[in-house]
Amino acid sequence: MEFELAKAKPESVKASLIVVAASGPKLKKGSSLDRMDRQMKGSIRKILKREDFKGKDDESKLIHTHQALPAHAILILGTSFERKGDLAINTLEYLRRGAGQAAKVAKQLKARSLAFDLTSWPPKGFSESEGIQAIVEGILLGAYHFSIYSKEAREKPHPLKSVQILTGRVQAAHRKALKRGQAAADGTCLARDLVNTPACDMTPVRLGKQASGSPSPIQVKVYTKKEIEKMKMGSLLAVGRGSEHPPTLIHMSYRPKGRSRGSIALIGKGVTFDSGGISLKPPSSMETMKDDMAGAAVVIGVMQAVASLHPQVTVHAIVAAAENMPSGSAIKPGDIVKAMNGKTIEVLNTDAEGRLTLADALSFALKKKPDVIIDIATLTGACLVALGERCSGLMGNDNRLMLALRKSAEKCGERIWQLPLIEEYSKDLKSPIADIKNVGGRWGGTIEAGLFLKEFIDGARWAHIDIAGPSWANKDLPYETKGGTGAMVRTLIDFILNY
Ligand code: BES
Ligand code: ZN
Ligand code: ZN
Repeated sequence: MEFELAKAKPESVKASLIVVAASGPKLKKGSSLDRMDRQMKGSIRKILKREDFKGKDDESKLIHTHQALPAHAILILGTSFERKGDLAINTLEYLRRGAGQAAKVAKQLKARSLAFDLTSWPPKGFSESEGIQAIVEGILLGAYHFSIYSKEAREKPHPLKSVQILTGRVQAAHRKALKRGQAAADGTCLARDLVNTPACDMTPVRLGKQASGSPSPIQVKVYTKKEIEKMKMGSLLAVGRGSEHPPTLIHMSYRPKGRSRGSIALIGKGVTFDSGGISLKPPSSMETMKDDMAGAAVVIGVMQAVASLHPQVTVHAIVAAAENMPSGSAIKPGDIVKAMNGKTIEVLNTDAEGRLTLADALSFALKKKPDVIIDIATLTGACLVALGERCSGLMGNDNRLMLALRKSAEKCGERIWQLPLIEEYSKDLKSPIADIKNVGGRWGGTIEAGLFLKEFIDGARWAHIDIAGPSWANKDLPYETKGGTGAMVRTLIDFILNY
């Protein structure tokens, strides 16, 4: 899909579909829609009146121009900005959602070209550059479809070939925003593809191959099971022990040209399938467990964007990949394993495996001496209980770092909420016979998991993001489709660019 910025009048733009905003039932004199209406001899006003269009959010109207305009059809999006109670849905997110919806309408219409009139969007609270980025993201994410395994889907690719964004001016900052939007959306779509690929194909070795395919200048080293044994990652090895597919440890790194502003380590949970192991999950909970490598997918997606945006910071991405399966060789409840940093862990529930893989990934990351560590993981079902399906949990030991992540998330329209790492709860993780156990008490499972990870941080600046909810969508959303969502890819890219 080709994107282009243009300083053109919507009434003279040639496109299969043109997208214009309306903030109320009346068209303002001199506005884009007013001018189009005049060329269509008042029929836009007539249709909107007849169909009682109010211009409310989520309201939209498709009007065919019947050759009265160079554009074949007009999609009018309501933008009254009424959902004021929900602070995460800012005006920029409305725009992104509108663009996502436009991509879906374009598909129904088999539209090959689309023009999005940013100048018609009411003010705003965001810059034109930010608006451009949001439109590009919304359209590319809304057009996403996972087609690898379906003949029908492969034969019906998204029809859009070209997109014009109509702006007041075209300047260097706008082109930069366009590039950012493309990189962020492409990284998100890559993460979606990796999550949607079934676990029979997306094994730990395959995940390593995917990372190795990262564009230059990303460097990648994939450690084999033998090398993992040499590094004494007993915790990661324990999780992979029941599976036919050996674990891998993936290290991707990016170094900027010139002076680096600092270094960031991203760690993604890469459990390519979570059956629960011997502490087997019930069938219904297993249906979506190919999603348990979503954290890994996120960091691979972020690194792809890093390769094209060249931030002035060093970025490491680390994945300890394993498949959690029950078998004769699997770890059993009550087993004690020794992590890379020498700590012994009593494994009482083999379904709390994510923290075991992350423990060794964190120790590996510490050796790179990054300024900050951010891990991202589909870690606990309890996070879904606490925050629901569309909100990530945030924990950590550094308020400045967490504030920066929250700011980026808000800008990107991704929901995140901070939970406290309550020190008193740590005593639930005490084991009578090992240094720590892998499950806590009955309550506060998300916090308990965060506290477990904290035991492997060794005082480094660290944040933990639990994406158990938002990494997966059970139904289509404005710019998401059922399946993997790539949640947090955009937030992390924004965080890196602003570091
Ligand atoms: N991968 C799951 C967490 C999860 C649940 C992700 C639902 C996405 C949707 C994780 O490994 C797990 O099973 N956690 C257990 C921990 C418990 C045994 C302490 C859980 O949440 O039930
Ligand atoms: Zn599990
Ligand atoms: Zn898991």
